[in-house]
Order: sequence, then structure tokens, then C-alpha cells
Amino acid sequence: MPEPKLSADRLLLFGATGDLSRRMLLPSLCALDADGLLSPDLKIIGTARSDMDDAEFRNMAREALEQYLPSERRGGMADFLNRLSYQPLDASTLDGFDKLAEKVRENGPGEHGLAIFLSTAPSLFGPTIAGLKHAGLTGDNVRMCLEKPLGTDLESSCVINDAVADAFPEDRIFRIDHYLGKETVQNLLALRFANILFEPIWNSNYIDHVQITVAETVGLEGRVAFYDDAGALRDMVQNHMLQLLALVAMEPPTSFDATAVRDEKVKVLRALREVQASETVTGQYRAGAIQGQAVPGYDEELGPKDGKDSNTETFTAIKAHVDNWRWKGVPFYLRTGKRLPERVTEIVVKFRCVPHSIFEDMGATMLPNRLVIGIQPQENISLSLMAKVPGLGRDGVRLREVPLDIAMPDAFVGQHRRIAYERLLLDLIDGDQTLFVRRDEVEAQWQWVDAIRAAWDADGLTPKTYTAGSWGPSAAIALAERDGVSWHE
Ligand code: BG6
Repeated sequence: MPEPKLSADRLLLFGATGDLSRRMLLPSLCALDADGLLSPDLKIIGTARSDMDDAEFRNMAREALEQYLPSERRGGMADFLNRLSYQPLDASTLDGFDKLAEKVRENGPGEHGLAIFLSTAPSLFGPTIAGLKHAGLTGDNVRMCLEKPLGTDLESSCVINDAVADAFPEDRIFRIDHYLGKETVQNLLALRFANILFEPIWNSNYIDHVQITVAETVGLEGRVAFYDDAGALRDMVQNHMLQLLALVAMEPPTSFDATAVRDEKVKVLRALREVQASETVTGQYRAGAIQGQAVPGYDEELGPKDGKDSNTETFTAIKAHVDNWRWKGVPFYLRTGKRLPERVTEIVVKFRCVPHSIFEDMGATMLPNRLVIGIQPQENISLSLMAKVPGLGRDGVRLREVPLDIAMPDAFVGQHRRIAYERLLLDLIDGDQTLFVRRDEVEAQWQWVDAIRAAWDADGLTPKTYTAGSWGPSAAIALAERDGVSWHE
């Protein structure tokens, strides 16, 4: 057994007044506190450019909690707010870091250590690390957590990773992919490796193809500059979707620990075959309607852009392959987009047909089994099975697909749904890296994604338009249908 790591008793939040902090981090920490999961010694220090004092920061935090955390999870909010303090900082210069270090050490030095959460513009990563080094905040008892975007391609991500590695060894770096904090994503591992049923048939002998869909109804949500530089491939595929793919495709790890799990994921990511432009589709939404509500097009949300049209993709569909023994010849169809008809994240595993149907002569239609793993908003697992339609069978046997459904909320009544960051923040404080992304994974992800972008550039591919509220350009349907596959909807 590896030695248990000591929990941090100081948490330093960079970007503490920002959107992520107000929507996710502070609410997650408050919810953990309400459940008695934070040590009474833990102090949380916020820092950002805004000039405010402790009381003003606590006020801002209270407003954020009231806005983003359901009231039933806000028990003990006053005690939580008392944990908070604030130090303004311009992270682009070294000047303020000594003061920040003083603030961190206020109320007695942390005995167990410091966890730092960096959710700032990537351009500030380098200067922040330099400042932390200068102020002596990079010692052996300091953990560094990084929020995306970590670069826009392999090269820029290496620059960031090198800067961080200059001050922290990999076993103290925690890279967030918030999908790994989602309960249902972790449940994928339980489904695969805590049941004997699936693993023997989890391969190309029995699986025809896999579909991974991450559909969103939201548009730009005001993140104009960020999103237009990123696009769906970098924003969603490079991280969340490839992590889902890796969890579906990985070999069984020997244990549920950070090295074993991440070793297996990275093998999958490295085995991804380079994709041709013809195996991808890109799209950009135009005005339309979602659930009866009119919504503007991407270009309207974006506003004027030097008089030029943006070529950023808000939708992409990709046919991927994992080139290894287990997955030979099994396509993984990935699709993600903004302004699609519904918010849904799901993984569909379509099995092969039975090799010989004893019912064929009796006119029965056979459908292959299908496992649908709903990640959000519905957390459920549904296995479609063929069953006999009741009847005396005088005109032959009739078969029909029936679902074997497990709705997670019903199976675990009384458990509340947690924000993904609750798990990740707690793991950061406790020093458990299993659900964080290792540098080699990130680099394998970028390498694959960069090659796709290069193929798009080489082919001069520009996004096709789709109406907001539809499932993307019709070419995405054709991408699957060419192989006789229909997207699960
Ligand atoms: C983020 C992307 O990483 O994930 C956003 O930057 C996206 O564009 C979000 O909306 C989706 O997360 P979730 O948890 O709502 O599926």
C-alpha cells in the first residue's frame, strides 16, 4: 500500500473572483463543508487582480453561493465563509507574491501543506509559477492544480507544462478534466471492472462500434474570444471526449490508483489512429430554435470580427480508431456541438448480431444488443435485449427489443448529486491524482488533435452550417451512415 498522503490545510485559489470560482469552486467547497468533509483546519485563500479585502471577498462568495448552490446544500455557510480570506495580486509581476505568501502563512503555518488551484488565463501560468517560486510557495508540501485550457496545441501545452515542471514534480501536479469528477464517468470503471459480464465481450469480436456524444444546447455563453480561438475540437474533444474514449477502451488496470489507471489510459490515447479529414465533419450553427426558444446564430453571438467570417467549428463529428488488438476494426464515432436540440452526454456500445439466428426462418427480426451509458443529464445505464413478444406463436415468433434499465438516482435514493469539482477538490486536498490527467496523456491528446487540425488546414476544410436546434450538419449523419450506422437519438 502506498503511504497515505497528508491532506493540505491551506487552499490557495488563483482566479478566485472569476466565473469558475463563483459557479463551481466556492459552491463545491461549501457543499463539502456542509457534509463535514473539510478538515476544520482548512483555510481557503482567494487571490485575483480585483482589489478587495477579506470581508468583500466573503460577500462576493456568499452571493455566489446563494446563486449557484441549492439552499439545501448550504447548511453551515457562515462557518464556511469564515474559512475564506483574500489577497489582491497582479500575477504578471513578482511584486505582490511575498504579501501573498504572508497571507497564506497567516493564522499559523500550514502543518500539512498547501494546495494551489490555478484558474487564470494561460498567459499568467508562467509568471505565476515564477512568483510562487520567488515567494517560497513551491516546496515539497505544495500541490499545484491546473485548470484548462492548458495551451491550444501540443507545442503551447508543452510550454505550460515545462513552466510548471520547473517548480513542481509530476507527482504534485494535478491537471483538471472536470469530466473525470462526474460520478457517472467514474461509474464507467465500476461497470467495466466490477462486473464479470462485460469484460469478456468488450472487444472487436463482440462490439460493432462505439458512439460518444456530448451535446449541448448552450451557445457561446459570453466566452466569445476564448471560444472563437478554441472551437469544439480543442474545447471538448481534446480533453473530455478523449478521456471518455480512454475509459471505454482501456485495458483493466491492476488497481484503482493513479499510476495504474493513467498508464492504461495513455496506452489507448497513443494507439489512436491518425484521422483523415474525410473522417471528420465540422459545423457552425446558424439562428434557429431550441425547445421552442429562438436563438441567434454563432456569427451574431460572436459580433463583428474584423469584417471576416469566423471559421471556428461549433460542432464536430469524428470517426476514430484505436489501433490495438482489442479494438481492431471497431470505429469510435465521436460527436459534440453547441446549440444542439438537447443537452445529453452518453456513450453507446453497439454489439454485433448473434452469429446464427434460430428465429430467422420464423420471420423474427433480430437487433443487436446495445448498451447506453447516460452520463448527463440522465444518469442511467440501459441494456437493450431481444425478448419474445407474448403470444402463442402460430404465425411465427415475434421478437422485440426491450430495455434493461438502471436509473442511478433510483438505485441510490437519498444520495445527492454532487458537482464534479467536489470530488476533484477533495482529491486535490488529499493528494490523490487518480482522477487528474497526467502530462503524457495531455500530450498524446494534443498530438492526435493537432493532426486533425493539420488535416483540416491541408484540405481547406471550413465548417458547414447547421440550424441551431438540429443535430449538426447532415454530413455528420452521412459520416455514420456510410458504415450502416445511425447515431443514437
Ligand atoms: C467545458 C467547455 O470544458 O465543458 C465548455 O469549455 C462546455 O464549452 C463545458 O460547455 C461542458 O461541461 P458540462 O459539465 O456542462 O458538460
